[in-house]
Amino acid sequence: MSEKPTGSAVVVGGARGIGLAAVGLATSHVAAMTVLDLPETAPQVTEAFPGARYLQADVLDRASLEKGFALAAESGPVTAVFVPAGITLPTPLLEVTQEDAQRCLMINIMGSINAIQAAAPHLAAGASIVLCASVAAYTGGGYVGGPVYGASKAGVIGLTKGAARELADRQIRVNCIAPGCTSTSMIGDDPEVIATLSERALVGRLAAPEEIAQAALYLWSSASSFMTGAVLDVNGGIRL
Ligand SMILES: NC(=O)c1ccc[n+]([C@@H]2O[C@H](COP(=O)([O-])OP(=O)(O)OC[C@H]3O[C@@H](n4cnc5c(N)ncnc54)[C@H](O)[C@@H]3O)[C@@H](O)[C@H]2O)c1
Repeated sequence: MSEKPTGSAVVVGGARGIGLAAVGLATSHVAAMTVLDLPETAPQVTEAFPGARYLQADVLDRASLEKGFALAAESGPVTAVFVPAGITLPTPLLEVTQEDAQRCLMINIMGSINAIQAAAPHLAAGASIVLCASVAAYTGGGYVGGPVYGASKAGVIGLTKGAARELADRQIRVNCIAPGCTSTSMIGDDPEVIATLSERALVGRLAAPEEIAQAALYLWSSASSFMTGAVLDVNGGIRL
């Protein structure tokens, strides 16, 4: 893609992993970048995208997200939003506590809802929102997440479609990516786990975070201008 960088982007959950990879790749796609995430500081964000703004924010704290999107809008109307913020939950269904289940569902689903609501007042016509589901949405977990994680990601797919319908009259597109197993702290570095997960993908390995982030950037770009309410599977053929 060779578009001239324009517009202001926000990555919610961009301090590491797939989100940070998107921040780095975005330098040639957007003019301004704001990253919102949990750590107090995140120098890696400005290393990845010189001039990026960073603000501590929790997706369960709407006010912190609103502050973050207002900061982003100081660089101009927001044209691109990516929400990779999320947590996994490997616990089997009959063993999971109410507290852990609620936290996973809240961060992964309510966090995405909060991000869309906080973004909405600042979005330019033509903006693109990309949420983050997972292959686990189709399988009810079974990789590094359990059934509750799978349910949370299936919820993200439903949210994507409803948000796409409701924001279409503002010329805002909403899509999600559904990554397969990706080499981030969510998977960890246990060689046995990595080998087992790698074998389950046709490509025989985990994805690099950049390989997933590229899909988010595609959904930001005009190359995907006819896509909204869609789920983009980026999983190395893991379910085939
Ligand atoms: N890694 C994988 O194999 C994989 C596979 C499918 C889907 N995903 C999804 O991709 C997304 C990114 O995952 P990753 O692998 O980069 O994981 P990661 O753990 O490296 O990154 C997740 C990011 O979300 C942030 N975050 C978590 N809770 C937050 C909160 N309450 N408020 C704000 N930020 C919060 C974290 O601080 C971190 O920066 C997640 O939604 C995950 O479920 C990952």
